[in-house]
Amino acid sequence: MILPTATYRAPDFVGAADELRLDLVVASEEPHALGDLMGERFLVIDCADVGAAADAIVELADRVPLDAIVAADDQGVVVAAVAAERLGLPHNPPAAARATRDKAVMRGLLAAANVPQPRFEVLEGADPAGISIGFPCVVKPLTLSGSRGVIRADDPASLERAVARVRAIQAEAGEGIEAPLLVEEYLPGIEVVVEGLVGPDGVEVLAIFDKPEPMEGPFFEETILVTPSRLGPPMEDEITSVVRRAVEALGVSFGPVHAEVRVEGDRVGVIEIAARSIGGLCSRALRFGLLGTSLEHLLLRAALGMPPRAMRRESRASGVMMLPIPAEGVLRRVGWQGAAMEVPGITALEITVPIGQRVRPLPEGDRYLGFLFAAGDDPDDVAAALREAHGLLQIVIEP
Ligand SMILES: Nc1ncnc2c1ncn2[C@@H]1O[C@H](COP(=O)(O)OP(=O)(O)O)[C@@H](O)[C@H]1O
Ligand SMILES: [Mg+2]
Repeated sequence: MILPTATYRAPDFVGAADELRLDLVVASEEPHALGDLMGERFLVIDCADVGAAADAIVELADRVPLDAIVAADDQGVVVAAVAAERLGLPHNPPAAARATRDKAVMRGLLAAANVPQPRFEVLEGADPAGISIGFPCVVKPLTLSGSRGVIRADDPASLERAVARVRAIQAEAGEGIEAPLLVEEYLPGIEVVVEGLVGPDGVEVLAIFDKPEPMEGPFFEETILVTPSRLGPPMEDEITSVVRRAVEALGVSFGPVHAEVRVEGDRVGVIEIAARSIGGLCSRALRFGLLGTSLEHLLLRAALGMPPRAMRRESRASGVMMLPIPAEGVLRRVGWQGAAMEVPGITALEITVPIGQRVRPLPEGDRYLGFLFAAGDDPDDVAAALREAHGLLQIVIEP
């Protein structure tokens, strides 16, 4: 498994590997306490240096045979594809993995396949005067994630400010101030997330989440996800068919996909497709089959070509709230957690930012405060429970 240092997913994937009694081998970006325990089965790689990282994995496979290479997050998907190809293991074509990591390449491939999506232009340089997308539009970096640096602009003046701000965010993220940006038509409507697994028969949909909170910008904080979607079967079928076309257009052919689409009336537009599963701790909102199997367990089975388990999600509604960071400063306290946990329907709360850590809201920030989970009979009740519990939390951030 490629488990980047900043991943939220390590415990859940390691837990699933334990359930499956796998001999896990971990590649991470920094030495880690795990390394002492794991010895030969721990490797340090730089995900940004794909060639060297793949070399290191291929060399390790000489001594420690590998049956599959799984990337937990976006950072590792290209390395996993390249190394698996070289070792003759099932994999995504490296070009497909790369296309999901560069929003301009992704838009180009989706456009060539006539997949419905916003109109877009790539902006090289700092001056958006020549951009003819119109307003409102969305400015975004090509390679970041978690809505970092994604900004809506409603007129030429706000577009200019957005471009300057996104360029600074890209520079801070190590992309260089001159890195190109994407400017897209703003798609109104409601947003849904499709979690899927791609195999020989194409995309199997594991879950469709609604994002019931309005996401109209100027910044696009993801907060609540609830499943099942309230859109219902005909629209869900249409979304599934658009996602299948998009996945095929990118060439993604193996393993998880995470798609974001917007729906307005009967029109579906693709926001993006990633060749990984849902981020943060959000997968904990998903349980499958009678045994309550985790998403990570299903993904590892699929990666290893093991016989699939039942992939039908449990029947109750379920949701997660990614707790936004409301202000910049030092996190001092998250109070009233007990009260939040007592809200009917709330099943878990995990604050993932350590007390004392400096935090920043979007569009610059790149972390959530934590994750709140709920379940119930009805997706609306689940969303209401998440809102109520979040409203009780006393988040103290000292400027
Ligand atoms: N063209 C668009 N129209 C409307 N909303 C958009 C558009 N592009 C992005 N967004 C909003 O911004 C969020 C983050 O953008 P996205 O392209 O998914 O970048 P990231 O990789 O950071 O998740 C989306 O989930 C969506 O809510
Ligand atoms: Mg996204």
